[in-house]
Amino acid sequence: MSKFPKDFLWGVACASYQCEGAWDADGKGPNIWDDFCHDPNAENIKNRDTGDVACDSYHRYREDVALMKQHNIKAYRFSISWARVIPDGDGAVNETGLRFYDNLVDELVANGIEPLITLYHWDLPSALQDKGGWLNREIIPAFARYAEIIAKRFKGRVRCFMTINEPQCIAQLGYGNGAHAPGWKLPEEKVAQVYHNLCLAHSAAQRAIKAVCPDAQVGVVPCGSLAYPEKDTPAGREAAYQASFNLNVGWSFNIFLDSLILHRYDDSASDAVKRFAATIDPKDWELMETPDFLGLNIYQGFMVNEKGEEVKRYPGFPLTACKWGVTPEVLHYGPMNIYRRYGLPIYITENGLSCNDKVYLDGKVHDAERIDFLHRYLLELSKAIAEGTPVRGYLQWSFLDNFEWGSGYDERFGIIYVDYRTCDRIPKDSAAWYADVIASNGEIL
Ligand code: NOJ
Repeated sequence: MSKFPKDFLWGVACASYQCEGAWDADGKGPNIWDDFCHDPNAENIKNRDTGDVACDSYHRYREDVALMKQHNIKAYRFSISWARVIPDGDGAVNETGLRFYDNLVDELVANGIEPLITLYHWDLPSALQDKGGWLNREIIPAFARYAEIIAKRFKGRVRCFMTINEPQCIAQLGYGNGAHAPGWKLPEEKVAQVYHNLCLAHSAAQRAIKAVCPDAQVGVVPCGSLAYPEKDTPAGREAAYQASFNLNVGWSFNIFLDSLILHRYDDSASDAVKRFAATIDPKDWELMETPDFLGLNIYQGFMVNEKGEEVKRYPGFPLTACKWGVTPEVLHYGPMNIYRRYGLPIYITENGLSCNDKVYLDGKVHDAERIDFLHRYLLELSKAIAEGTPVRGYLQWSFLDNFEWGSGYDERFGIIYVDYRTCDRIPKDSAAWYADVIASNGEIL
């Protein structure tokens, strides 16, 4: 018997800026990643790479969908470039830009692949950044209007919408340490304001989508550190749960989700966050919308002992090309603990790794490391499911190699290799392996 439910949604994911290219085509407006990459005064991106062309998916989406079909992919999570659809973020709609997504959705549906839309995967229209971006509450109605436009357009064709991808990265990297666009470095209280505005923006967008498509499933896609136990004992599990939701560990799911769903910041919050929280108008809590599901982006976790102390990784611990730990257990305990705290159905909206992939002498890309990684993680995920966690789907990150933000094109996460000189695609060994996993609904694992 398969370890995965009958209707489990197996898919892949990507995001507009990372794969589309066509950065100024057909009336698209500039966004903060265009600006960040093009900044002549700072080398914000490794090798000064840009998303100007990326994988050129804007022009090659048919080829990409055909490759997905060939590999049994059942769902594609992609994001919409807000500035392609509404060039200044809040004004006139760019019909040509919208038509690109129309075509993509039609192509997916025609090939039996479910489109899953992310509204915001970090590429804010520059005109909205000029007004303060996510720091300015005026962005909330603009985001809700954008969501409404998308919902109206895709009503009946798209069942699942995700509002915001990784609010943690937006707030911490975009507004905190400046590693991501817009590159702002603000004090922690301001970063907390960004988080709060993101919660309100998710909520306003969810209401807007539901008003148009009452049957739609609306989710949000957070990220953060998750712990797994050194020993699988009741005490070990409890320690991993507590360590996962400690706001002091830095990246945390709960800095966003507690506020959105539980309407609180707990005691582990920093003084700056507590100071900000004290200024929140109580009426704001009534505006928060609990999503229908949570999309979890999970790549690595950290191990804790029964006392909740982090267990240092041993020398030579397995790492991916970008030096993230290979910790499959996080896909067992992570979703379980998130479900225990929030009680919502879950999709794994991203999981994968970067490898030093290259084309071998035989013209193929042999990525045994990726197969082993995904295999281990999926086996652990099946344990969470066996223990009753409602995981509805798994979206591997990423279908194509793509633009990895500050690392540019140096990190390859795809199961399809992209030769950036030509934009030619070469399916890696892992693509064939994943196709078999899907065909057997995970039974071959
Ligand atoms: C999270 C982000 O959502 C995605 O854009 C990024 O490429 C992957 N993780 C890998 O870092």
